[in-house]
Amino acid sequence: MELLHGVKITIVGTGYVGLVTGVCLAAKGHQVTCVDKNLDIVERINQLQTPIYEPGLPELLRQVVVSGSLVATNDLRSSVLTSEVSIITVGTPSGDGGIDLSYIEDSAREIGTALRDKSDYHIVCVKSTVVPTTTDTLVKNVLKATSGKDPGEFGLAMNPEFLREGKAVEDFMYPDRIVIGALDNKSFAGMSKVYEGLFDAPIIKVNLRTAEMIKYTANALLATLISYSNEVASICETTGGIDIKEVMTAVTLDKRFNPKIEGLLVNPEANQYLQAGCGFGGSCFPKDVMALVSFSTAKGYRPRIIESTLRINVEQPQRLLGRLEQLLGTFANKKIAVLGLAFKPETDDVRESPSIAIITSLLEKKAKVFAVDPVAAANMKAIIPPSDSIIYTTDYRIALHDADAVILVTSWSQFIKIPPEEYLCLMKNPLVVDGRRVLDKASLEMAGCSYLGVGLV
Ligand SMILES: NC(=O)c1ccc[n+]([C@@H]2O[C@H](COP(=O)([O-])OP(=O)(O)OC[C@H]3O[C@@H](n4cnc5c(N)ncnc54)[C@H](O)[C@@H]3O)[C@@H](O)[C@H]2O)c1
Repeated sequence: MELLHGVKITIVGTGYVGLVTGVCLAAKGHQVTCVDKNLDIVERINQLQTPIYEPGLPELLRQVVVSGSLVATNDLRSSVLTSEVSIITVGTPSGDGGIDLSYIEDSAREIGTALRDKSDYHIVCVKSTVVPTTTDTLVKNVLKATSGKDPGEFGLAMNPEFLREGKAVEDFMYPDRIVIGALDNKSFAGMSKVYEGLFDAPIIKVNLRTAEMIKYTANALLATLISYSNEVASICETTGGIDIKEVMTAVTLDKRFNPKIEGLLVNPEANQYLQAGCGFGGSCFPKDVMALVSFSTAKGYRPRIIESTLRINVEQPQRLLGRLEQLLGTFANKKIAVLGLAFKPETDDVRESPSIAIITSLLEKKAKVFAVDPVAAANMKAIIPPSDSIIYTTDYRIALHDADAVILVTSWSQFIKIPPEEYLCLMKNPLVVDGRRVLDKASLEMAGCSYLGVGLV
């Protein structure tokens, strides 16, 4: 099916999700206005600069801004008045023990106020991750009060986003499914025009709160797979002589995890979540799991598995540091190289990254930290400012020089490829801590290094 005409879309909040959504929808032929309160973001986009690090985004952004199919502004009202759909992509951070919905409420209020002066039908779609009932209560009520219109006179939808940072453009352009929760058929039909015929993925039609729950269920499941693997890793560590990596590799060769198609193993990506490491981070898993636990508990059901997912994740970096401290005797005055600050490779996002907990603990214990990341140091400096105790560098050789230990926290490929001989030559004590179980223990030991890995004693 061909697109008959592009939809005029307002994106409210041009951060990671908003920018990727806006750029990709513009590339698909829609007319997109990206709104953000942050003027710096607005100006950079209009000057063809990409405010975030995301592979493939700069090229696409340039293309859609130059062609005129995407503009950025801080004028939400004008954009709402001249568009057909507003997609809310503002942040939903952790609040007081739960989710902070204040940005959602503010944007709904601003959109509703503009809708008061608009006679044409307009759909408001929440794409931010919000706890069930947010769209059909908070957002609906705020829109109703501020626009003076009844639901139905305006459309309402909830369209969760599943993109992964680092692969955001690819994920958005080639989605596995498009979930559209809708207030009514007219809202669903309007939202379908944004996607139908443009993306090779099934459109799943559900109600608003089911759409919200789908996103949380997906994130909580993936986070739980990680914590489950880390829990098994800890069991392996209690005993010795059991390698979590061998365990999980064998477990996931089960055809239910790893079917064969035409004789070849599929090895689904979900299996990557069944690997032990120093824990998950990022802007989504920790806060979304926390929000789900707090939402459910407030509703009267305490979710014990999901609660433990978080607890195990908080303990995981500390367990690894505890083992390293035992080997070193003390962290005081030891030089520790930390390889990787971003919560995963191919992003500059450090939000909730395990590196924060690791560096904070090392500094508390008076270690001298040399932290390396190809792109994320600037963001980390805003959380842990450089000082005499922590030095940031992009050159891992500077970090390794004379170090007492090195901890691999983010599996950037350039760190995985460091030849074992470099650890040996550069470090005072070539003790390599593999926080992601991605290094080759045998070649490190053969070269004369010591190896400490999660889930292996
Ligand atoms: N980052 C991800 O990988 C990811 C993936 C899927 C879903 N999500 C969800 O998407 C939502 C957005 O996440 P993000 O990482 O893009 O957040 P972000 O913090 O990167 O971006 C939010 C943007 O909204 C802007 N903003 C806030 N209030 C505004 C308003 N009233 N008007 C205009 N602009 C406003 C902020 O200035 C900021 O630029 C969250 O709910 C998140 O959970 C994120």
